[in-house]
Amino acid sequence: MDYQQILEEIEIEIQPLFGQGKVADYIPALGDVDADQFGMSITLFDGTQFNVGDADKLFSIQSISKVFTFTLALKYLGSELYKRVGREPSGNPFNSLIQLEYENGIPRNPFINAGAIVITDTLITHYKNDTKAFDEILLFIKSIAGDKSINIDSVVASSEMEHAYRNLALTNLMKSFGNIKNDAISLVQTYFNHCALQMNTQTLSRAMLYLANHGIDPISNKAYITKSQAKRINAVMLTCGHYDASGDFAFKVGVSGKSGVGGGIVAVIPQKMGICVWSPALNEQGNSLIGTKALELFTTKTGLSIF
Ligand code: DON
Repeated sequence: MDYQQILEEIEIEIQPLFGQGKVADYIPALGDVDADQFGMSITLFDGTQFNVGDADKLFSIQSISKVFTFTLALKYLGSELYKRVGREPSGNPFNSLIQLEYENGIPRNPFINAGAIVITDTLITHYKNDTKAFDEILLFIKSIAGDKSINIDSVVASSEMEHAYRNLALTNLMKSFGNIKNDAISLVQTYFNHCALQMNTQTLSRAMLYLANHGIDPISNKAYITKSQAKRINAVMLTCGHYDASGDFAFKVGVSGKSGVGGGIVAVIPQKMGICVWSPALNEQGNSLIGTKALELFTTKTGLSIF
């Protein structure tokens, strides 16, 4: 299959969608990003890469970081983790408070904000403090992506901290139920720090290879997690990776994927490749509008959905 040709066709076909959707501005520093950008990359198991558009441009990975923190927590805690966070779709927006009250402070899954905050809390406990936890998360992502230069965008991280009302509310609500063990402020800051990491579609597509290959990175041969854990992460990405639009993403694209409000989406094609697409304007559920369309075009043109 001529992947380069397919990516170039997609780049042309998404052009009419520029101008639709809206860049996230509830984090003011993200609101400054130019909406008219698009990049897409795929990385095959031998490391061959195909790119189109702004594939080398760094963007805020935001909730895509939750895939890596979930992986790390599963690696150290195993299924104990599910006592504190579920694995069911929430059917609600990613920052919703309502369900948490009804469900006694146990978030539905590791990808909604509340679930990701619990995951970060377990990592702070595991690594004994917040600084060490962040350092280990960053090292882990650098290893998985094969890129030592990954770093934090501190403007985005402090912008989120200045507008942290809802995430602090989620954290304090869960703490009132006993499901947060560490200090709420430093926990939320650590969570923002991993959300504020910057990567591009090239490195993120490469970073998905361990999930396409049963937990083993096919390039470095490093085993990050077990086959069964990789299966479960992919399942949660499929059912919960796009929040209340997860069903729609499965319907249109038909692969495991995870979005971030920075406009990135990662996707996994089992036994074949990692994919990442980036375009900052979001649909109503907070997922990249053009990114979703580009992935839909990709699986339609290649037949590479899991269904
Ligand atoms: O906590 C937040 O709201 C952001 N740091 C992450 C949210 C996000 O990326 C949702 N994804 N589509």
